[in-house]
Amino acid sequence: MRKRQIIIDCDPGLDDAVALLTAFAASDMMDVAGITTAAGNVRAELTLRNARIIRELAGRGREVPVCAGAPGPLLRDPVTAEDFHGTTGLGNVVFPKPRVRASRAHGVNYLVRTLRAARGQPMTLVVTGPMTNLALALAMAPDIVSGLDEIVVMGGADVEGGNITPYAEFNVFADPHAAAAVFRCGVPMRVLSLDVTHQLLTSDEQVGRIRALGSTQAVAAADLLAASNRLEENEKGRHAPLHDPSTIIALLRPDLFEGRKAEVKVITEEGEEFGRTIPDYREDGHVLWYTQADADGVFSEMLGQIARYGE
Ligand code: BDR
Ligand code: CA
Repeated sequence: MRKRQIIIDCDPGLDDAVALLTAFAASDMMDVAGITTAAGNVRAELTLRNARIIRELAGRGREVPVCAGAPGPLLRDPVTAEDFHGTTGLGNVVFPKPRVRASRAHGVNYLVRTLRAARGQPMTLVVTGPMTNLALALAMAPDIVSGLDEIVVMGGADVEGGNITPYAEFNVFADPHAAAAVFRCGVPMRVLSLDVTHQLLTSDEQVGRIRALGSTQAVAAADLLAASNRLEENEKGRHAPLHDPSTIIALLRPDLFEGRKAEVKVITEEGEEFGRTIPDYREDGHVLWYTQADADGVFSEMLGQIARYGE
């Protein structure tokens, strides 16, 4: 069977970085065809740099294009999350300077070109940041939907409430107009919202088990998770959720998750609910909104994938 071809659109970001490392490790199950970056956790120049850093750390510097996407959200003022990711976006974790350049292609052009070429053999788009790039690609070339088999998104919240406002989750809040366009595009979607990622907190013992794997990549993943835990503890008094890595684990092990079909509305009107996602649960919905995760299973799968770096 043909391996799943994925593009990761991200804003690294500590947890985006761990998601990228996990996806690269799972190369027997999925091919990471390319990475596009968005402004989000930190400014666009930094998310691009961080994606290049992680690509090289995974040993994939020459094969996988990294393309800079939109420098900011569609309509709203830019918002960042340095409190949770540090000023560089990768906490206090120090990495060698990336040597392989970013692709010259703009991230949105890359999405349009690649997804058009994928008609007949559609690809999966994983979005772990604000959905600006995909919304722009859909506006420029609505026909790209036929190059997509599904879109897997980390974003939104229902029963859990928000993490950036009482209602809104960061990725959707950072570009609600883009999220609204993506939720309307009709491609089957899976959503890892705070309703499920808040069930996936990483303990110190789990971080220790990843570190003990010993490879450079595993130690880096442990450093990123530990930095995430420290920053989240300062801000929220609890360990950090495995937000973005959950998208990759849901692709690898859908059996570890349960959800309900829905259509999802995004509040784009100014006001206290700005950026809120409202799932309307219905059998004929095109979005699978995850509600439950097997936390131990998700962690074990991630550990098992990261262990491959040492092999
Ligand atoms: C999401 O927001 C970002 O800060 C994280 O990288 C994750 O994608 C969680 O709300
Ligand atoms: Ca992210």
